[in-house]
Amino acid sequence: MNNDAGGDRRPSTWTREHASGLERTAENTAPVIYPPDEPTDPDNHIWDTWLLRTPDGEIADVGGYRVIVALSAPNDLLPGKRHDVATHRFYYSADGRTWTPGGTLFGDSDPLGSRQWAGSAIYDPETGAVSLYYTAAGHRDESDLSYTQHLAVAHGGSIRVDDGVHFDGPWEHDSLARPDGEWYEREEQSRGMIYTFRDPWYFEDPETGEAYILFEGNTPVPEGTDACGGDAEQQAFNGSVGIARADRDDPTACELLPPLVDGVCVNQELERPHVVYRDGTYYLFIASHKHTFAPGLDGYDALYGFAADALFGEYEPLNGTGLVATNPANAPFQAYSWLAYGHRGEILVTSFFNYYDYDRPSLDDVGLLPAAEQFRRFGGTLAPTLRLGVDGLETWIRGTLAHGHLPTKDEPLPETETERLARLRGERDGRDGYGR
Ligand code: FRU
Repeated sequence: MNNDAGGDRRPSTWTREHASGLERTAENTAPVIYPPDEPTDPDNHIWDTWLLRTPDGEIADVGGYRVIVALSAPNDLLPGKRHDVATHRFYYSADGRTWTPGGTLFGDSDPLGSRQWAGSAIYDPETGAVSLYYTAAGHRDESDLSYTQHLAVAHGGSIRVDDGVHFDGPWEHDSLARPDGEWYEREEQSRGMIYTFRDPWYFEDPETGEAYILFEGNTPVPEGTDACGGDAEQQAFNGSVGIARADRDDPTACELLPPLVDGVCVNQELERPHVVYRDGTYYLFIASHKHTFAPGLDGYDALYGFAADALFGEYEPLNGTGLVATNPANAPFQAYSWLAYGHRGEILVTSFFNYYDYDRPSLDDVGLLPAAEQFRRFGGTLAPTLRLGVDGLETWIRGTLAHGHLPTKDEPLPETETERLARLRGERDGRDGYGR
């Protein structure tokens, strides 16, 4: 156990040895996704999505509605261009199955950055305070898009419910943190592919009540360092899960702490880190891509995870390698940007429906397709929700729910078909349980 938040604490590591065992299995491979009858939003593509939560991490109940926030772009824009115009929109639902578009999240306020990438959203029912954390990508008024990123928050506004849900300003937009260059690489230090300092995720440690912000970063590996046993190419892949101290009562508070996990020599992007706490265990999840693994490692577009018995580690990769849920081999890019949350005895995972009917070796090849094919093969809508079983360091996919079905924690879910058959087989053979 490593309970020390700051100072000299060293991050847990995701090693090449862990990642060299990455392999699709029946437990970690999701079923093929087919397009839904209706997309989540008829006018916009959506991708990275998060639930509005209360400070303790539960799904917020806003006058009987639950709310999601998603990155969005008009659906007549070529999907590959969407990151350049990403805008936060929200959607609300009374049943967690059908979502009503609520419009843009920040109204007519002017968020930081030239566009806004992923974050998290917190509503405190006791005070009515709303904190909308986000990634400010680029500079506000830049004419040429830059890829600089910093963590930001919008606060001061409120939520109103009548026949629907409204986010009312005025919103104040504040910068929270920029990379310090020591624990977190600055853009100019980066020698890798896609530089990262983004995706702020608010989390309160249930064991201490302390507030933190997790985020995606990169660990500086100075020129001349030998971080990967003599392989200079590998050390350009230096993704990390960052953490900063936050404060429930002051949304602008943010003090950088050393990373929780780093994947130096393993992977460049440990995206959208978030924690699900279950019975004394901290499950830390990230999304990552096949093409961001360092040379010599074969990974997947997948949800990866780690577990520890304290927020600050020591984290061990789930299932030995870190792989929790991936796409099937014949649809390797069908979903991305997974987000996990606890639900009774299991963990539910939402994601977005990405490129389907597409099995070229890399997402980089999407641009080689004619524009009409790029549109046709892009989902841009919520994917089916995955149900994960979890037992210590082991996870397995139990089954799926419909596209965009996001139950709150009290909603009972039926036994999956696989489990029903296993139970019947077990009863027939005189065993009980699910055959596990
Ligand atoms: C993951 C991601 C996030 C980022 C967003 C930008 O899908 O790379 O890390 O905030 O996409 O669109």
